Amino acid sequence: MLKRMYFKRTRSNNRFNRYFYFVNIIFTFIVLISLVIKVASAVKREDFKTCADSSFCQRNRVYADKVSSNSSFISPYNLIENSINIKDGVLSGEIINIENNVHFILELNLLTTDSARIRINEKYPLKPRYEEVQNFALVNEPSNTLIYTVLPSKDGLTSISFGNEGKQKVIVYHSPFRVEFLFNDVPVVTLNDRGFFNFEHLRKKGDSSSFVDQSNVENNVNLNKNKDEDNNNDKNDDGDKEEEEEKGLWEETFNGKLDSKPNGPESIGLDISFPGFSHVYGIPEHASTLSLKETRGGSEGAYTEPYRLYNLDVFEYELDNPMALYGSIPFMMAHRKGASAAILWLNAAETWIDITKNKEDKHGLSGFLNFGKSTTTTNTHWVSESGIIDIFIFLGPTTSDIHYQYGLLTGFTTMPQYFAISYHQCRWNYLNQDDVLEVDEGFDKYDIPYDVIWLDIEHTDNKKYLTWDNAKFPDPIKMQNNIALKGRKMVTIVDPHLKRDDDFILYKEALDLDLFIKGSDGQVYDAWCWPGSSSWPDFTNPKACEWWSKKFTLDQYNGSTESLFIWNDMNEPAVFSGPEITFPKDIIQHDGWEHRDSHNIYGLSYHAATFSGLMNRKNPPHRPFILSRSFFAGSQRYGAIWTGDNMAKWDHLAASLPMLLTIGISGLPFSGADVGGFFGNPEPELLVRWYQAGAFQPFFRAHAHIDTKRREPWIAGSPYTRYIRDAVRERYALLPLWYTLFYETSITGKPIIRPMFEVYPDEEEGFAIEDQYFVGDSLLVKPVVNQGQTSIEVYLSGDELYYDYYNFQRIQGSNKVIKVDAPLNKIPVFIHGGSIISRRQRIRRSSAGMRLDPFTLLVALNKKGEAKGTLYLDDGETYEFEKGNYVYRQFIFTSGKLTSKSLSSDNSNLYSQTISSVLRVERIIIIGLDKKPSKIFAYNNSNPSLKQELEFKFGGIGTTINSFTTPSSKDVLVIKNPKLFITEDWTVQF
Ligand code: NOJ
Repeated sequence: MLKRMYFKRTRSNNRFNRYFYFVNIIFTFIVLISLVIKVASAVKREDFKTCADSSFCQRNRVYADKVSSNSSFISPYNLIENSINIKDGVLSGEIINIENNVHFILELNLLTTDSARIRINEKYPLKPRYEEVQNFALVNEPSNTLIYTVLPSKDGLTSISFGNEGKQKVIVYHSPFRVEFLFNDVPVVTLNDRGFFNFEHLRKKGDSSSFVDQSNVENNVNLNKNKDEDNNNDKNDDGDKEEEEEKGLWEETFNGKLDSKPNGPESIGLDISFPGFSHVYGIPEHASTLSLKETRGGSEGAYTEPYRLYNLDVFEYELDNPMALYGSIPFMMAHRKGASAAILWLNAAETWIDITKNKEDKHGLSGFLNFGKSTTTTNTHWVSESGIIDIFIFLGPTTSDIHYQYGLLTGFTTMPQYFAISYHQCRWNYLNQDDVLEVDEGFDKYDIPYDVIWLDIEHTDNKKYLTWDNAKFPDPIKMQNNIALKGRKMVTIVDPHLKRDDDFILYKEALDLDLFIKGSDGQVYDAWCWPGSSSWPDFTNPKACEWWSKKFTLDQYNGSTESLFIWNDMNEPAVFSGPEITFPKDIIQHDGWEHRDSHNIYGLSYHAATFSGLMNRKNPPHRPFILSRSFFAGSQRYGAIWTGDNMAKWDHLAASLPMLLTIGISGLPFSGADVGGFFGNPEPELLVRWYQAGAFQPFFRAHAHIDTKRREPWIAGSPYTRYIRDAVRERYALLPLWYTLFYETSITGKPIIRPMFEVYPDEEEGFAIEDQYFVGDSLLVKPVVNQGQTSIEVYLSGDELYYDYYNFQRIQGSNKVIKVDAPLNKIPVFIHGGSIISRRQRIRRSSAGMRLDPFTLLVALNKKGEAKGTLYLDDGETYEFEKGNYVYRQFIFTSGKLTSKSLSSDNSNLYSQTISSVLRVERIIIIGLDKKPSKIFAYNNSNPSLKQELEFKFGGIGTTINSFTTPSSKDVLVIKNPKLFITEDWTVQF
């Protein structure tokens, strides 16, 4: 206003001022335009809460600050000694908050899996608190172990050793209540060590005294006396502060949207520390680093906001940021030389996690442990808006143990069909049937394999999912059958919001059956998403899931065929008109629960219901494939996820690596990022580099926003199309390796792409490396993520051999950084010495065409001259493998012999019989041999006397990998057509 007046006054006075006025206008205009452009191309931070905007986060941070700044503070939560009972692997007892006499039930379960579970709930809650999350995240109620020893009692604490080898121990300190988990007598996880435990009991507005357990009041009078005095003093002094803290207890508003909070404050908070660990990992999904950053008081580069877990549709998300994204897995793993430990904070409400690190050796660790470089302890502070405290503690001691323990609890990755791990072609949108067929033919024309073509929301009749726009897709069955002739599949998008249109049968049925989520006013919740006014079925209601699961059968989903699979998008859920682009927290779900309690499992529950739908398609069922954007602990049981709407920028390509590594180690290995970047137009170089990275990531799909230019691989032109083709073909050559890794993760929980510390757990230099990773244990991949880069530094862990993937040149590892050439046609990949990799080198139109092709075994010797590897095969579609109908082989090279043996108990199963005379080894390549063998023989182990001499070449052999040509290393040996069958036990003797 003032500014305007200033211009008005001066304008009439002289010409100079007039000139100045115009310059100023233009300048202001330019600034505004650039601001608009900037804002339009960046996250709208103001749409999303910070901790300060979220009253429970703020209250718990303030509480933590009060505790930390008062050295004489003692946590008011005490475990009442005479309430402790230990029976059948369970320690139960009662905790009292001596400040307000509220009582809590504690249950500590010692589990058969060398892990433990701690639950704390109010003893007399005004109404039940939400615990249903376990029904969605866990596969079953974990069993308690009966192998434990209660150690001789000491004053003020109870300790129990447990675990299959008795190496795990838990010490429960009574007053104040504190818990320490130890492995081999060294503390690895502690709870309430810093006294941040804060359980907001349910209360009536304006009343905080009505739920005290009267039976115990007398016992606690003395305990409380001193505290009360302190409190009163505090109260008198701090009236204002308290008023401030009261804010947001009974309602809060964000961006003009009111959260009515009918239950008032009900948050839970607890500090969890990892003594002696300087690195913690996990808690996806964030566009952040692999080794998690400090969030309070940290040094340069640290965050000031806690990591947030609250599933949200964040438009153009920012990198290097703890803001919440589409999925949440409240799993955190700590790792150091010699030990790993992890926790799962089982809560589906909005959650914030602060992380700090300190070098104080509070537990005297340096005295009895050699930690290598430091005795740093990572402290974390977890706060959820509602629910109960329910924590699983996994005591490892290795990361593999933790993945297995976590997998037994939340389920292992569902075994995908073979096509699902191949290459997927997507964009928003393929326009019509002709467009789909043209793209399909384009791949054949340019000799690029692909398995799946995807249709985004525009294929539907006005965003009514499970329908077709008949003008654009007049004959979807014919279209699918056409691509199916080449062994290819189609995926269509099905979002959870249903258009409110009485002619839309899904909407009408859900309405009539009362399956929709209700608003706080009790009416069907009505809000805005792609189709306009929409409603959302409540997938926490079993009836809704059952109804939904019937909608995918071929007779219900018109225009679909057996080769059609599903993409579940927008399931955070995204609600354009909702607070933070999602549901209001006070809307009502099944059994009257507020959405607040279960927000983070909406996506999981939807994914699970769709999974049941695809299981109903065939009898016996074929393995479903469903991509979901939102996820939670347990989502691995239903399919793949991707990292949402990234951007066609180099830094987004770089960020996809730590994001995918983090999601993978958090139990959800089937994940990928949109290849090419969703928003914007990648320059050809970026596109090539992204394909190269994607080819070495578990879920490999190109995708693009509707406003972007077309970018099917051939559009980039020469030489880029060729390089993209090479990358995709490389994926197809390695499908046997990927499929084997998927099988192995489905029984072990181990991530498929692995950060350095998973493979070299004792090498501290690798603990924070996030720009390179292992595929399984056998390939080390360092994607190029910078523009114009033609050479790259790679860190080679261990005193081990590596081999250049292209020319097999030998490189000695020993924890050093080497610089290698990385021209645009080369993906920096290294074969880890000691691996045997199975490849299929005849690349065809789709993976289906390659299923009976012979194998090349690539044997890369380690420095001891040994190697091993596995190969898993099954029909690639059904659940027959669960009945034992699969082939699982182990190849071992040692003492000059390469052997193949079965790892499955029944080697003559039905599947094995169908392929036994078909699947053979057509080539064996051995790299790293020191000298040329004089002769090579092969024999079937059942008849060693029938030896057959094999022909081979040694040295100077040109590589067949890719179109990249370099002279091959001289110590390469190639045996052509050794006439060995995959299902047989054989030996090749050198
Ligand atoms: C948002 C998804 O993240 C994106 O991949 C999709 O293309 C659009 N929704 C349209 O369905």
